[in-house]
Amino acid sequence: MSKHWRAVVIFWCVVLGWVFWAVPATTAKGGYVGSKVCADCHPAEFENFSKYAKKAKSDHSVKIMADKLTPDEVKTCYSCHTTGYGKPGGFKNFQETPELGHAGCEVCHGPGADHAEANGDTALIRRKMVMKECEVCHSADRVKSFNFKPLLHGGAH
Ligand code: HEC
Ligand code: HEC
Ligand code: HEC
Ligand code: HEC
Repeated sequence: MSKHWRAVVIFWCVVLGWVFWAVPATTAKGGYVGSKVCADCHPAEFENFSKYAKKAKSDHSVKIMADKLTPDEVKTCYSCHTTGYGKPGGFKNFQETPELGHAGCEVCHGPGADHAEANGDTALIRRKMVMKECEVCHSADRVKSFNFKPLLHGGAH
């Protein structure tokens, strides 16, 4: 192989290597987008959720009690009342990430940024879920004190 051709081959190896490495790395973020983004393509689910699910207003439940709590105590509410708190691309606080301030679609369906960006690729979103995943928030303590245990298909849309 001449020097020229070797340079051409190396050049393309570098270019293609970058494309295959960098492009998926920049598009597959795996983060959260908030329920409003889901509404663009799933208007019926969004409408039902916003009207009937208490989760759609779970930020309000925290805000009405925030006056009586210390900032650290308020933070203890976030893991259940917001979307993806403490997880990559999840809720941080009401100023920076207002779109994730309630317990949205993604607390059940998992982070949806990749699914939304890939025009609704069903391989990138969770459809099936099990009771254990609800119990992270609807914990034994809470079931006892509220005397309320949800059914798997309750409180969705
Ligand atoms: C990230 C925490 C979280 C997870 C996970 C979660 N929930 Fe909830 N859920 C809440 C919160 C918070 C409320 C109460 C909102 C309020 O009133 O402020 C709630 C309320 C409800 C209600 C009350 C009635 C209504 O219509 O809104 C039902 C039913 C419910 N959830 C079902 C489920 C089911 C079923 C699952 C699992 C598939 C689940 N939840 C997973 C946090 C969660
Ligand atoms: C372990 C998860 C979890 C944590 C932590 C949590 N909540 Fe909740 N909260 C829920 C769930 C689930 C419900 C819905 C009722 C139920 O099924 O237990 C709820 C309901 C509520 C309600 C509505 C009650 C009603 O009558 O509709 C208020 C208000 C509330 N929470 C405020 C708070 C505040 C304020 C904090 C933080 C100090 C907090 N919660 C922490 C899970 C949680
Ligand atoms: C409390 C948990 C929960 C929340 C919150 C939730 N879903 Fe679901 N979703 C489910 C369950 C359970 C199913 C049915 C899965 C099955 O059995 O196939 C489902 C199914 C779906 C489906 C498939 C079509 C269908 O209706 O079966 C879509 C699309 C969907 N959800 C979108 C959304 C959107 C958009 C939001 C927010 C506006 C949302 N979901 C909020 C639990 C939830
Ligand atoms: C750009 C449009 C688009 C956006 C944004 C979008 N979806 Fe979808 N979604 C689709 C399409 C298309 C399908 C496949 C056809 C169908 O089931 O409606 C789908 C299917 C689903 C399914 C069923 C998956 C299965 O295995 O059958 C769920 C659940 C779902 N979406 C939830 C969500 C949630 C939650 C969000 C927001 C985080 C969201 N989608 C955002 C287009 C979108």
